[in-house]
Amino acid sequence: MANILIRPGWHVPEHLVTPEKAFLKRREFLRQMGFTGAGLAAAHTAFAQADAKSPVKDAAAVKTSKVYPAPRHPEFSAKWPLTSERVAGTYNNFYEFTTDKEEVHRLTGKFVTEPWPVKIGGFVEKPMTVDAKELVEMFGLEERVYRFRCVEAWAMVVPWTGFPLAKLIEKVAPKSDAKFVRFETAFRPEQMPGVARLRGYPWPYTEGLRMDEALHPLTMVVTGLYGKPLPRQNGAPLRLIVPWKYGYKSIKSIVKMDFVVKQPNTLWETLAPNEYPFESNVNPALPHPRWSQASERIIDTGERVRTLPFNGYGDYVAKLYAKKG
Ligand code: MTE
Repeated sequence: MANILIRPGWHVPEHLVTPEKAFLKRREFLRQMGFTGAGLAAAHTAFAQADAKSPVKDAAAVKTSKVYPAPRHPEFSAKWPLTSERVAGTYNNFYEFTTDKEEVHRLTGKFVTEPWPVKIGGFVEKPMTVDAKELVEMFGLEERVYRFRCVEAWAMVVPWTGFPLAKLIEKVAPKSDAKFVRFETAFRPEQMPGVARLRGYPWPYTEGLRMDEALHPLTMVVTGLYGKPLPRQNGAPLRLIVPWKYGYKSIKSIVKMDFVVKQPNTLWETLAPNEYPFESNVNPALPHPRWSQASERIIDTGERVRTLPFNGYGDYVAKLYAKKG
């Protein structure tokens, strides 16, 4: 093992290593989103204004069948080689179907993803139950190429299609008591063969974010992958993507979002709190009891590359975790 070539951080060709122009663009992106100067407090309202800058011109007129592929957000274009679409769709973690990653896509045939009502409630002024398709019509879609890092030390780079979760949060108007968002996956034993085999698991799959994490412009509600509607095995019709956290925070096939006062229990934290803490930011310096987190394997090439703090998104998010005082 000693001779494994560990490339310095995601094998980024020299000409793509954040040139000054891109860095300035990033600052502009963060400024538009209210993440510089005025800081986090402004993020909430900044999103309404940021809408005007969205690559989606007329979100209300968008019809689901016509939205793929969505325009790619220039800030998140392909800076790294994309993972093969075939591999991203045939190597999955979706324990409700099976723990065998290469079998998941073969077992999702009975999973019905239309219609798909999502219930959004808890401490909000405007609770709603809305179909996944209506959400797409409400907010429009954009594509972003993000790195994705599983705690099992594998990784990929894929183009997700979706919209910032903050837009949805803005719509339901959280009350000041809301400090966290709790997400829940569908629980349908008749369509999900894995749940019967994992009887001891605290189903349904749940996850959670702090309010500032949920509002962060990088956090996306995802409905598509590789310019097409999201395949069932990747979490159709609606999942979360939080690119600076380990993959298990990116909960699939969401049916419920609740705005809550206390930090919610999550499936993985309930099962093994020392292995899957609530925060779970990608951190190469903090080994998991079973996997070193110092490097990761790219799933299609098998290449091993060095893991970056916050999965390479530190410029955007490190501030959220800066010690105060
Ligand atoms: N969501 C649900 N509902 N069930 C799961 O088993 N697995 C998580 C996450 N979301 C999981 C889930 C884990 S561990 C990872 S790494 C990612 O989904 C995998 O996403 P992918 O299959 O699209 O690559």
